[in-house]
Amino acid sequence: MSGQDHVFIFDTTLRDGEQSPGASMTLEEKLQVAEILDDMGVDIIEAGFPIASNGDFEAVSEIAKRAKRSVIAGLARAIHADIDRAGDAVRHAERGRIHTFVSTSPIHLEHQMKKTEAQVLDIITDTVTRARNLIDDVEWSAMDATRTPIEYLCRCVEAAIRAGATTINLPDTVGYATPDEYKAMFQAIRESVPDADKAVFSVHCHNDLGLAVANSLAGVAGGARQIECTINGLGERAGNAALEEIVMALRTRSDVLPYACGVDPKFLTRASKLVSAVSGFPVQYNKAIVGKNAFAHESGIHQDGMLKNAETYEIMRPEDVGVRATSLVMGKHSGRHAFRQKLEELGYEIGDNAFEEAFRRFKELADRKKHVYDEDIEALVENEIATQGEQIKVIALTVIAGTGGPQKAILTMDVDGKHETRECSGDGPVDATFNAIKAIVPHEAKLSLYQVHAVTEGTDAQGEVSVRLEANGRISTGKGADTDTLVASARAYVSALNKLLARQNRPDHQELKAV
Ligand code: KIV
Ligand code: ZN
Repeated sequence: MSGQDHVFIFDTTLRDGEQSPGASMTLEEKLQVAEILDDMGVDIIEAGFPIASNGDFEAVSEIAKRAKRSVIAGLARAIHADIDRAGDAVRHAERGRIHTFVSTSPIHLEHQMKKTEAQVLDIITDTVTRARNLIDDVEWSAMDATRTPIEYLCRCVEAAIRAGATTINLPDTVGYATPDEYKAMFQAIRESVPDADKAVFSVHCHNDLGLAVANSLAGVAGGARQIECTINGLGERAGNAALEEIVMALRTRSDVLPYACGVDPKFLTRASKLVSAVSGFPVQYNKAIVGKNAFAHESGIHQDGMLKNAETYEIMRPEDVGVRATSLVMGKHSGRHAFRQKLEELGYEIGDNAFEEAFRRFKELADRKKHVYDEDIEALVENEIATQGEQIKVIALTVIAGTGGPQKAILTMDVDGKHETRECSGDGPVDATFNAIKAIVPHEAKLSLYQVHAVTEGTDAQGEVSVRLEANGRISTGKGADTDTLVASARAYVSALNKLLARQNRPDHQELKAV
């Protein structure tokens, strides 16, 4: 992997992104995300933190076995057990990487690690050497690099390169840097550290001040040649630099950003939708590149200009990032074959059972809704993907609502293969529905988010509901879509509850976090 002006794209959606509270994904979901990242040309996929849990280990090793092109990285703290576990997880990859990190800033050393600078230097030499004894491709990260005095950071980087690190990542862990500072840091390190040219330098920016993408590009101007980022900018707190924004900035402004990357932008929209569906994090409407309004021109002046020449107001074309013109799909008479073709066209490959269920739900939808659009099919299939193998399912719901009150819900659910029905009242039909779920599956989780948006236009549009539940410090999110918003609400709640239950039932449900 070399080339002066090639910038390696390192995606950490499955590690830093998945650490975002409530964004945890199942193995099946992680495999789907990894597959699209591999297909779209991401150079390195950070697939997880193998020591964190058996589930994380299994995900990293399965992704490592399946990857066709991408390097697969596993994260490890500066601890032998972590490094060995990461090495084991990426063992089957065509090209594997161990990514090990340690904090270098005075505030982390004093309060978190309780170690001296000299001790941390020894740890770097020891742990990078250990990783290099397992694998040739080793990335070392200086956590909180941007709050580390530059002289000490230089010594750390020198130690890591001498011990064999092939990539040096200098993260802006707390999203504190400005673009000029970040660029200057890379320039200073690359100028003063002996053998700096033996490693690829990498940026890793958090978005606390909304500067993650700007900082990443500034780091590249300072000599970095790897960018760590996530789909939709997913990540803890305000998230990480958004992959889609980086890729499109490099492409659209190649006149001033002369760096090539291997990502095919046509995958961006699909990847964004998939990550949003499996993480349960909706994409904001005005999000750059992948937001619903990213290519919508409302004002009269803009529309007039667009009609005369699209370049008057459009610096990228929607089709460049994989947005298709909205098309009407088949109606209620369409058969299995046409439905399968439509799924292929939309880029979905789903197993036979999931296909049958999605087809059944499509028929139901086509019976109720006059026009079924691509967006409807996408919402339906993503729902199906997200709910595969769930322990509890919504079977039937009848709601009595209106001004009279009290509102009531009669709900039947399948719990581990057994149907159970309850009737409950509540403060409104949503509350009544959620009370019925609680009556069937008693639990302590608190509802911390309830959000509805319409998938398409019109009064017969499907409502897509997002629900976030919190229990014992754990957060899980679920989505549901249906023309009946209450059914969508029940599905979203049950999907979030399934994720919480699945995590509670894991034998190793301790969860470690990096930053
Ligand atoms: O933000 C950070 O410092 C990290 C490291 C683990 C690379 O995510
Ligand atoms: Zn991070």
